[in-house]
Amino acid sequence: MLTAAVRTLSGLSGNFTPPETMPTSHSLQDGFIDNHRSNDDAIRVRAELGAGLLAPHAFTSPKYLYDALGSKLFEAICELPEYYPTRTEAAIFDAHLSEIAESAGRGTTLIDLGAGNCAKAAKLFPTLLPAQYVPVDISAEFLRDAVNNLRQRFPHIEMTGIGLDFSGTLNLPESVRRDQRLFFYPGSSIGNFTPQEALAFLRRVRKACQPDGRADGGILIGVDLVKDKAILDAAYDDALGVTAAFNLNLLRHLNHLLDADFDVRDWRHRGFFNPESSRIEMHLEARSNVTVQWKGGRRSFDRGERIHTENSYKYTQESFVMLLEQAEFGEIQVWTDPRGWFMVCHARAA
Ligand code: AVI
Repeated sequence: MLTAAVRTLSGLSGNFTPPETMPTSHSLQDGFIDNHRSNDDAIRVRAELGAGLLAPHAFTSPKYLYDALGSKLFEAICELPEYYPTRTEAAIFDAHLSEIAESAGRGTTLIDLGAGNCAKAAKLFPTLLPAQYVPVDISAEFLRDAVNNLRQRFPHIEMTGIGLDFSGTLNLPESVRRDQRLFFYPGSSIGNFTPQEALAFLRRVRKACQPDGRADGGILIGVDLVKDKAILDAAYDDALGVTAAFNLNLLRHLNHLLDADFDVRDWRHRGFFNPESSRIEMHLEARSNVTVQWKGGRRSFDRGERIHTENSYKYTQESFVMLLEQAEFGEIQVWTDPRGWFMVCHARAA
């Protein structure tokens, strides 16, 4: 069975508001807190993107893959026969749901990081019975709609949606309950961080589990595992070209955010497993010599030159359990599929 679910590391809304009209950050409207669309934020985004594009090996953060269309394209990726992670993770949850709920606990404050359309968490509600549901996503508009729909289906669950780029900080507002925090981070989005960033992220989550110094929280996380290169290559370079469209759409988003003049037709998608680094790499490669201009910058790319747009690290069970231990999580439980392609872990803030 397949659950199409948008999970975003982060991403800015396609309806990105120009700086002059942005609301002040941290505004609470109908139980929704939009914590990132400030003037400063837009300036920081432009500076970050410009620096990456001008680096010797040009790069952009994977969070910029997720404007409104990017989120929809990722939703389509999750339905592709080649893209096994979504299906495999869903099958693990289906097969072990009561055990997972037993370990994770009921009546938790369920904090869904990169919630997107909230579908994965919603499937767990009847078994996990959370006391409060807190979906967090940088794509605030997309999330707002999803939360509004969910409220109608589960009126008895308190919900606070938060529009926030949680990749750097994890400062949760006062309205998020402090007890029994369960951070939910499925879909192997942890793989889009470098292992060092992943460790720092897990440490932040660990800290946020114990806001009052008591550690009664934990993390429920999905992690993609190392496997045959051909399977990995196909998952990130599918026959239909949906992943290619997802990657190329980044250029449209950059045009929007930076006032840039990327022509999508000048670029091609590259997506492959790099076994030395144990990661998928996604790049955009110039089809010919091309010069790109944006507000505050300009760069010429030679034919074949690339912009590195995403890494997706693949772990072994052992290497990821070690990472959780390094972040001071304990009582780690692991569930996997019969082929050992993906794993779901629950770990406590020990
Ligand atoms: C969101 N993330 C876990 C996906 C992944 O598999 O790394 C993003 C993705 N990139 C290309 N296909 C899917």
